[in-house]
Amino acid sequence: MAATEVKVLSARYDVPGVDDLEVYEQHGGYAGLRRALEMQPAYIIEVVKASGLRGRGGAGFPTGLKWSFVAQGTGKPVYVVCNADEGEPGTFKDRPLMERDPHALVEGMIVAGLALNSEQGYIYLRGEFAHASRQLAKAIRQAYAAGYLGEDVMGSGKRYHLTLHRAAGAYICGEETALLDSLEGRRGQPRLRPPFPAVHGLYGCPTTVNNVESIAMVPLLLVNGAEWFQQWGTEKSPGTKLICISGEVRNPGNYEVAMGTPISELIELAGGMLDGRELKFFCPGGSSTPMLPASMADTPYTFEDIAGAGSLLGTGALMLFSDRTSVVSVVRRFTEFYEHESCGKCTPCREGGYWASQVLARIETGTGVMDDLDTLERICGSVAGRSFCALGDALTSPIMSSLQYFRDEYVEHIRKGVSPFGVAPQRDVPMLDPAAVAATARERASLSALLSAATSAAGDGSGA
Ligand SMILES: Cc1cc2nc3c(=O)[nH]c(=O)nc-3n(C[C@H](O)[C@H](O)[C@H](O)COP(=O)(O)O)c2cc1C
Ligand code: SF4
Repeated sequence: MAATEVKVLSARYDVPGVDDLEVYEQHGGYAGLRRALEMQPAYIIEVVKASGLRGRGGAGFPTGLKWSFVAQGTGKPVYVVCNADEGEPGTFKDRPLMERDPHALVEGMIVAGLALNSEQGYIYLRGEFAHASRQLAKAIRQAYAAGYLGEDVMGSGKRYHLTLHRAAGAYICGEETALLDSLEGRRGQPRLRPPFPAVHGLYGCPTTVNNVESIAMVPLLLVNGAEWFQQWGTEKSPGTKLICISGEVRNPGNYEVAMGTPISELIELAGGMLDGRELKFFCPGGSSTPMLPASMADTPYTFEDIAGAGSLLGTGALMLFSDRTSVVSVVRRFTEFYEHESCGKCTPCREGGYWASQVLARIETGTGVMDDLDTLERICGSVAGRSFCALGDALTSPIMSSLQYFRDEYVEHIRKGVSPFGVAPQRDVPMLDPAAVAATARERASLSALLSAATSAAGDGSGA
């Protein structure tokens, strides 16, 4: 059975011209801001808390609770930062929202500013999102002209400014503390926590960092109330969710559904698997979330059910793979991505990604040995939980989960000496060529012989 869509956040996507202020207002736009101006800041936070909205950026932390941690009355400015970096592979929900309904995010940012007594917000936008950038810039201009932004928001006497920051596009800059460093003009690398951004964030001031989808939902919560949001989903995962369905389905794309919809129904919603293909495995929330086998496709799409199945809901990026797809190939591709995106700050992730990629390349191209499977597990054991930020864990989860469910397929690659899914493309030549390794070892041996000869010669000269 196919699930039905529940268009709440995406309700205006198909309204012609809704990226213009006038049409946005005709479709309920800025009503949430009007409600917010009638409320005390603490009350806005209470409504968000009561709704049970959980962050849509990956970790699922309750948004209202996060806002209640932001330090007030410190004498320092408070900043609201929207994380519009959207870098997790398989995720494509924030960009369509910003392109099609940009005022929804602008309104959400102003409401978040009122809730947190902030006078300045930033949208940190992935640099490649050129159209989203144009749309947001236009929406911000229109909001200033209409008095929704500026020195006196809708005559309330409250000031709120919003700045669009177009970033260079690095996966690690989606990690909230790396994002803050990048926004400050530094190289984007994660910061040590504590102190957390709620106390010591942007420019050392209290800050909240929230995902686009989390922020854009808040005006709707104020207009409709917390209970309205809870009509969908479960107690721990209320509301609707924008889901990105990708992979071997007929109609991949963006769908908004009630939380709790079984994954099998989401697959049907996307038209089912491509002709003649059987679901083999899926990543429930992006490439960093542990893959699950097809036998778990009835799992309801909630934070708690997916965690119970051994994975994570992540960003809501459901990636589907069929029986025609090599698990080893997919895992290798994911690992290369995390290797490439590692910021290099800590050794386990910087080195582990490189070595895991090498070993996976060897297995996929038919030069792997059985010991490689233990080596992969040892590498992951040195990275998971021992890295400075969650990118290290992200790197290991496709490897470990695929070894858990599809170890036989790795063994088959190694035994046959070739991928059972066909000849690997040219780029798949293993970088660790055994002949090159032997040559390097010989060079090292002769270099160290040379060095020790030179050292003893120097010793002879000075001592005699
Ligand atoms: C490596 C890495 C990349 C991330 N990328 C993003 C991103 O692109 N967008 C996002 O909203 N959150 C991303 N996050 C999560 C953020 O650190 C943060 O938890 C999130 O923006 C908080 O927003 P939320 O509470 O609304 O979910 C990333 C985390 C890590 C570790
Ligand atoms: S885990 Fe990776 S991305 Fe995170 S700080 Fe360490 S090297 Fe950088």
